[in-house]
Amino acid sequence: MTKRKLIAGNWKMNGDLASNDALVRALIAGIAGMSGSTCEVAVCVPAPYLAQLQMLRAGSRLELGAQDVSAHASGAYTGEVSAAMLKEFGARYAIVGHSERRLYHGETDALVADKAKAALAAGITPIVCVGETLAERETGKTEDVVKRQMAAVIHTNGHCISEIVVAYEPVWAIGTGKTATPEQAQQVHALLRAQLKAATEHCDRIHILYGGSMNAANAATLLAQPDVDGGLVGGASLKAPDFLQIIAAAL
Ligand code: PGA
Repeated sequence: MTKRKLIAGNWKMNGDLASNDALVRALIAGIAGMSGSTCEVAVCVPAPYLAQLQMLRAGSRLELGAQDVSAHASGAYTGEVSAAMLKEFGARYAIVGHSERRLYHGETDALVADKAKAALAAGITPIVCVGETLAERETGKTEDVVKRQMAAVIHTNGHCISEIVVAYEPVWAIGTGKTATPEQAQQVHALLRAQLKAATEHCDRIHILYGGSMNAANAATLLAQPDVDGGLVGGASLKAPDFLQIIAAAL
């Protein structure tokens, strides 16, 4: 089954009102100028800018996402943002379990699974990130690590797993300029697909994105792999021409 690819930008902790405005206007204009049946495009922005983006994207095909979400629905959780709040500002997606959150904020597999569940309960599609560190790859643990991370999300979310997006992001490739080869990406994507297939009969509708130094030059070959359904793009999503080239490679 062929499905439209999904290209999602992850702005991380970057941007300001003025530069967001310029970037988003350039993206919307660029996407509108692309002909034919295009891929789906989203930007995952810092939470304070959701309101700005909600206005900027109105009437366009650009979808909106957050970079994290609370596992809780509401209550005494200072600093957290609930999925329902994200929804009110037009977010369709929320990244969960990004390696930077696993590493700097101690997020466990179980917490990531709970965050995915909280997102789904509010009608937000979680973009669940999995990926191995360089040490794990070099010691032959890649398969074990990504399967363990994925298994926690499958366990907690049951049949709803068909509603998630998965992003395979090898930690050693994030922000380093070292991209996984198309073969390395395809290998992990295929094993994630098999794991998801065992969990849901609707596995075909799940997008499995590749992330980690995806750029205008390498996007086409990565996206040509049979199990690569799109990209989660960090650095290159902050420059309109680069991001538009990646989008064009996914058409
Ligand atoms: P990068 O980041 O494209 O800058 O490597 C990807 C990500 O962390 O989602």
